[in-house]
Amino acid sequence: MAMLNSAAGAPHARILSVGSCRGERVVDNAEMCTMIDSSDEWIQQRTGIVERRWASQDQTVVGMAADASRVAVERAGLSLDQVDAIIVATISGTRSMPSVACEVAAELGIQGAAAFDVTAACAGFCKGLSLADSLVRTGGATHVLVVGVEILSRLLDTSDRGTAFLFGDGAGACVVGPSEVPAMSPVVWGSDASQADVLTIDDSRSLAEGQPHPYIRMEGTKVFRWATTFISDRAREVLEASGLAPEELDVFIPHQANNRITDSILRHLKLPEDVVVARDIRNSGNTSAASIPLAMDELLSSGKATSGQQALLIGFGGGLAYAGQVVTLP
Ligand code: COA
Repeated sequence: MAMLNSAAGAPHARILSVGSCRGERVVDNAEMCTMIDSSDEWIQQRTGIVERRWASQDQTVVGMAADASRVAVERAGLSLDQVDAIIVATISGTRSMPSVACEVAAELGIQGAAAFDVTAACAGFCKGLSLADSLVRTGGATHVLVVGVEILSRLLDTSDRGTAFLFGDGAGACVVGPSEVPAMSPVVWGSDASQADVLTIDDSRSLAEGQPHPYIRMEGTKVFRWATTFISDRAREVLEASGLAPEELDVFIPHQANNRITDSILRHLKLPEDVVVARDIRNSGNTSAASIPLAMDELLSSGKATSGQQALLIGFGGGLAYAGQVVTLP
């Protein structure tokens, strides 16, 4: 029988660069409290959020994803035509067809790239990263753009004081390419569909005129409990799968869901005191699929973290779903 060719690519993959684009409108807690019955003190204590960034009227999911991608491709020292796959993680595309990734390709003038979306909410970026790792190592692509992008402010019930203060808008993009040395550990990922209903974008209830529709609905306490127990254990598995000891880790970039969730996972992992921890939620809010690359770019741009350091990423949220890996920072 004739033998089929099988896929073969680079020995390893790594993140070559990161870029980001933030919502232009700063919405601080004082402004938020004109919409919901809450206080700056309550929001800061319960979540760590001081302000969030919302897209201006002119910003779009595709435009923000394209802006972050341009920065990432330039920082990788590549030209746009060297990108041969685009993976966009998002839950806020306004059309289910074409994919946001195809629209980003068109916006950037990238012809012929494999382009598709990943719908995995706050786990989407890490899932996309793992797919990119596989594509590069199996020869499906050489340079993959992995983008996390959300405009969640347009999916909010701004009268719901249990969710409205939490979410923000932004885009983060990484270029993943070939590497001679390991720079991305095996992914640890999964889902728990028995909790599918605790975090949804729900169009089953009519809202008052002027409110967006559909909108995010969340049972916050259930998500919080899952994140601080189940996800803490998965984060430990990510570290074990990477082969690193806790003291060999430099940076921790969890999905920016809530600082109290981050603190809880940190305690569970028993990481050394000097590990740099992403706290981008303070100024960005929870930006779902965009939060990890946004936080990564903030740490690198501010000098809190540096290229070559080992960072544990873990995304978790609606599905419920999760994914994580250790990466060498670009
Ligand atoms: N401002 C002031 N008080 C508020 C409030 C607000 N915005 N929202 C709720 N409260 C009140 C409640 O009415 C309740 O009051 P009571 O004790 O008198 O009944 C009290 O605060 C506690 O409410 P609860 O819903 O139990 O708050 P919480 O401690 O669970 O915090 C979240 C709420 C949303 C901050 C928290 O559940 C959370 O972060 N969950 C995870 C969310 C998340 O990460 N989602 C995305 C995952 S990707």
